[in-house]
Amino acid sequence: MKQTILGLLKDSLSTVLKSSDISEDSILNKVHIDRTKDKSHGDFATNVAMLLSKPLKQNPRAIAEMIVNNLKENNNISKVEIAAPGFINFFVNTKSLEQALNSMHQDERLMVKKDSVPKTVVVDYSAPNVAKEMAVHHIRSTVIGDAVVKVLEFLGHNVIRANHIGDWGTQFGMLIAYLEKVENESGQGMELSDFEAFYRAAKENYDSDEAFAVKARNYVVQLQGGDEYCHKMWRKLVDMTTEQNQKLYDRLDVSLTKKDIMGESMYNDMLPLVVDDLLKKGIATTDQGAVVVYLPQFKNKEGEPLGNIIRKSDGGYLYTTTDIACVKYRIETLHADRILYFTDSRQQQHLETVWAICNKAGYVPDNISLEHCPFGMMLGKDGKPFKTRSGGTVKLKDLLDESEKKVTELLKARDSKLQGEERDSVIHNIAIGAVKYADLSKNRTTDYVFDWEQMLSFDGNTAPYLQYAYSRIQAIFRKAQNEPLGPITITNDTEEDLGNKLLAFSDAVYSVASKSMPNYLCNYLFELSNLFMHFYEACPVLKEGVDEKTRQSRLTLCDLTAKVLKQGLGLLGISVMEQM
Ligand code: ARG
Repeated sequence: MKQTILGLLKDSLSTVLKSSDISEDSILNKVHIDRTKDKSHGDFATNVAMLLSKPLKQNPRAIAEMIVNNLKENNNISKVEIAAPGFINFFVNTKSLEQALNSMHQDERLMVKKDSVPKTVVVDYSAPNVAKEMAVHHIRSTVIGDAVVKVLEFLGHNVIRANHIGDWGTQFGMLIAYLEKVENESGQGMELSDFEAFYRAAKENYDSDEAFAVKARNYVVQLQGGDEYCHKMWRKLVDMTTEQNQKLYDRLDVSLTKKDIMGESMYNDMLPLVVDDLLKKGIATTDQGAVVVYLPQFKNKEGEPLGNIIRKSDGGYLYTTTDIACVKYRIETLHADRILYFTDSRQQQHLETVWAICNKAGYVPDNISLEHCPFGMMLGKDGKPFKTRSGGTVKLKDLLDESEKKVTELLKARDSKLQGEERDSVIHNIAIGAVKYADLSKNRTTDYVFDWEQMLSFDGNTAPYLQYAYSRIQAIFRKAQNEPLGPITITNDTEEDLGNKLLAFSDAVYSVASKSMPNYLCNYLFELSNLFMHFYEACPVLKEGVDEKTRQSRLTLCDLTAKVLKQGLGLLGISVMEQM
């Protein structure tokens, strides 16, 4: 519908703007065509006349009149009105609404067309660190990143998942030395179940035992030099960590697999070449044995350009150097058109520095877009960073266990009759869905408060509420048995509101893709469920006295709503259930 209105406006403007030097496209690129909140103002409203008021030096109302006078007739629009101070309101033809809904119901993709310009998009997300527990703040990157990945793939983009794990650095000398010690003491290989304890013990040994520290430092050098033994031990640490993380991804219904790992170590061989190149291009300079890049746009407190070390005087490379090589690789080898980074907002300056250096070095062609998709912190109910009762970081695994425990109690309290496998799977779906949705539904750029009660509530903008709306529709169909579905006819406001909302599904999906913000889709699904509940209260479906044609039309509206809920939640990585 928006496209239709845009087309009509374009035609009209070509006449209205004929004698000015303003191009239609420059205006239409900025114009808003929004669904109205209040039906008495039509179904869509546009601010195009306001946008033209300044350049044409006329009042918006007069411009609106000119535009309306030049609008062509269109089947999908029944009426056009002007509202103060110059909005143009479009009333949709119910027949065309019905037609659009019936086609949507026939369409497997629910009228979400593939993007006409498919791109190669590298999505950098999750990125936990080796020999460290995946902590609860990693959930944000993992869950938000994965939803965006699913949306982009659905729109036909070639998505490359890049799990930039922290698998390189000087800490590996210490970790290898400690792994060796544990294996020697136990006489066998070990299984890592508590990374935090392992890391802590390694550090304690390093700090208190000089012989251990010497060995650890030696191992770093050997590992970097490609020593076979050190490499084997390093591999073990990486494998043990990825093994455990994969279990969490699977449990979270996140689409990452081991194939998506492109850790820091992968760029190791590129680092000397990148540093040489930056020196050769005069972007980097040598300073007291270290190689440094000064960027005028980043200044220190004294107002002098900030130095970014890319090679230390001992020859070691840094997080920044790796990320420079990584940008180069993603553009030159993976042929990325767009690179999205899902990391918390504290890495903003790091990424901006990396990109500024890459731009200066000519690694980033103009048409390539590098986007930081930052997110805030997860806070406890007290407004402080989310911690366990004893002040430690919350482990993701414990959090998910807790969620399942709470849902089990919840189902008991709701007197659920579900049993066995079905019950287990319902518990899993609600527990995981609630935790993920709590994160997805907030504007990701702000900090968010982790609140069990809110996220597990069956009321409000939560996963259980949406999952429940879906199950409720399935219950209608169980009751309707084999009643056939019929074409949708719109007979009242609640049907029209629901119908208009259903048609906005594609817009919601596209905004997630362009802004990398899954909360747009969450809000959409929440509003859709609310409109469905209104419709369901106002419009009996199976009650006696409803004529066959109306009943079958309403069943189709129910079915279409269920399909959109299932598809929408599926894109967010959340499952629906027949019964809860
Ligand atoms: N491993 C890093 C961390 O835990 C996140 C990596 C983000 N991606 C990147 N290309 N720097 O903070």
